[in-house]
Amino acid sequence: MTAEDETGPDTSRYVDYLLMNREFTASVVEAAVGSIDLIETRRPLRVLDAGTGAGGALLPLARRVEAAGGDGAVLAVDADERAIETARVHAGDQQAVDLQIADLRDVAAEASQAGGVYDLIWSSDVIWPATFDDPATIVRELADALASRGTLALFTTNYYQSMMLPGHSRIERLIRTASELTWGLPTDGPTHHERLGAWMRQAGLTDVSVTVLPLAASTTLGSPARTYMEQIVWPEMRHAVASRGGEAGMTGADLARAEELLDPASDQWIGADPDGFTVHPTLLWTGHAPA
Ligand SMILES: C[S@@+](CC[C@H](N)C(=O)[O-])C[C@H]1O[C@@H](n2cnc3c(N)ncnc32)[C@H](O)[C@@H]1O
Repeated sequence: MTAEDETGPDTSRYVDYLLMNREFTASVVEAAVGSIDLIETRRPLRVLDAGTGAGGALLPLARRVEAAGGDGAVLAVDADERAIETARVHAGDQQAVDLQIADLRDVAAEASQAGGVYDLIWSSDVIWPATFDDPATIVRELADALASRGTLALFTTNYYQSMMLPGHSRIERLIRTASELTWGLPTDGPTHHERLGAWMRQAGLTDVSVTVLPLAASTTLGSPARTYMEQIVWPEMRHAVASRGGEAGMTGADLARAEELLDPASDQWIGADPDGFTVHPTLLWTGHAPA
């Protein structure tokens, strides 16, 4: 959590989040990147990973470049130096991958000024109103950075439609609202985080479509799902309850029940449930630039 403002989101474990989320989502990111329908370009692929984080998409993207032949390349950018360092380790000696600390808006503007450069732009869990006041504008800037008939692929783990406290659905819905409050997310309207497809259509992309890639896993010990839930998600929920639960409509009894479920020292702790699981209906939005 930000030390200055305890009613905001808990971002104190940013790099841990990136790493644990990368391991948890590796299978769906691989499937998502592999499923992207690229329009035949007859030239080496130029790919941008906008907001790469820990670089979870880099190896699948590099495989797409390799499969297309020639000397294509992936440029992965992130505004945060720690993310780029983490992604660099993950990318290893991949020759086709270049990593840079940069603002994706600057990279997009440069490509746009050059007339559109990228055959594929991938961006995962980056464009949402907690980061950008006007996410539709960012999507337009990315769309303008595409080469003719290039593809924009916006992926989201769909955190706020996921099951993270199965068997406790009413409390989970209230906690979700509390968490959305910590991130200052709009509950409705044109900047709502579930409008990725609308922003792509408004940016002039064609064939805008969505695919769901479900990620379901047991949260019993010894899995990336368990690590991600135990280290990141359940503590995030606990913080949201403590900081904004009342505002989200939780009664005293709700707050006590949530604390019981989310406190590792409690005998009711969700992590002690031998039948625990999580489901994330991850989404891949794609659209094509005009010819
Ligand atoms: C939630 S993380 C997602 C990381 C990664 N794409 C993934 O799916 O795991 C969002 C990332 O976007 C980066 N980011 C936010 N604003 C950015 C900007 N204007 N330019 C480049 N990166 C940005 C953050 O530093 C962070 O690493």
